[in-house]
Amino acid sequence: MKAPDPALLQPRLPSPLQEIEDERFTRHGVRLLLKRDDLIHPELAGNKWRKLALNLRAAAGRPVLTFGGAYSNHLRATAAAGRLLGFPTIGVVRGDELAHRPLNPSLAQCAADGMRLHFVARSTYRRKSEPDVLAALLAATGAAGPGDVHVVPEGGSNSLAVQGCTALGEELRAVTDVAAVACGTGGTLAGLAAGLAPSQRAIGVPVLKGGFLAADIERLQESAFGSRTGRWHLEDRFHCGGYARTTPGLDAFAEDFEHRHGLAPERLYVAKLLYGLTTLTQEGAFPAGTRVTAVITGRPWPGPQADSSR
Ligand SMILES: Cc1ncc(COP(=O)(O)O)c(C=O)c1O
Repeated sequence: MKAPDPALLQPRLPSPLQEIEDERFTRHGVRLLLKRDDLIHPELAGNKWRKLALNLRAAAGRPVLTFGGAYSNHLRATAAAGRLLGFPTIGVVRGDELAHRPLNPSLAQCAADGMRLHFVARSTYRRKSEPDVLAALLAATGAAGPGDVHVVPEGGSNSLAVQGCTALGEELRAVTDVAAVACGTGGTLAGLAAGLAPSQRAIGVPVLKGGFLAADIERLQESAFGSRTGRWHLEDRFHCGGYARTTPGLDAFAEDFEHRHGLAPERLYVAKLLYGLTTLTQEGAFPAGTRVTAVITGRPWPGPQADSSR
């Protein structure tokens, strides 16, 4: 089988770095830069190309099976990659009740890109990494055995994805003091931090509530690099109530950011990151002269932004 070559997608790499003038930062002597990963590829935007590229090579043309919720950016990106590079994709979707409803726009896009959708009960979905549950899922989706498909976990975060994200840190060497990213599974932060120079540090802004993420990120780094790597920490105060939750303050912030800078921040992740960095700067968390880079990991996608599923 011929391995699909993600380079055929002509990703725009290194992604552009853009400094913006924002008086909420300049007032504190802090420089704000945007790492425009959202411009890497129109359909594999943000961290998606970085997380999928090594996985697609490892898949070597076999079907890729992966997991996500009803509005998963990762499912859409995987489906698009399958269409563009010509390999089969299977999406295991959380929530068997969805099987009996018309597809929402995100899942309809996945299906239009050729992804075979397989809906599972939330209780099964929670146990998807357990070997017997995974084996049953592979059988049920018609993907005969573990060697016949390449399985990518939810959010795309495995050690190959984390290794792929080290390039993000490497691209930021010497151009920033702090690099910050919104975190879902934490895979992007795990790679970013490992790619930075020792004098730099990374900040992760979790968009989910729970406090479990630091341990997950350490586990991802252990599997990708053998140990915890790079200087990073999490700022846990900016999830605004949890995944896909928002507050009037966050909405106002996002609208104001678009008005000031002409960039509409993606609401589920990027807006929370920018809100967090603005608050931290106003609190004096960064000494004057600090260059802070916000990684723009995605772009707004049409469709409901406030759905509670991932
Ligand atoms: C736009 C966007 N930003 C950030 C993230 C978080 O990435 P990670 O799961 O690697 O923490 C995601 C996750 O899918 C995403 O879609």
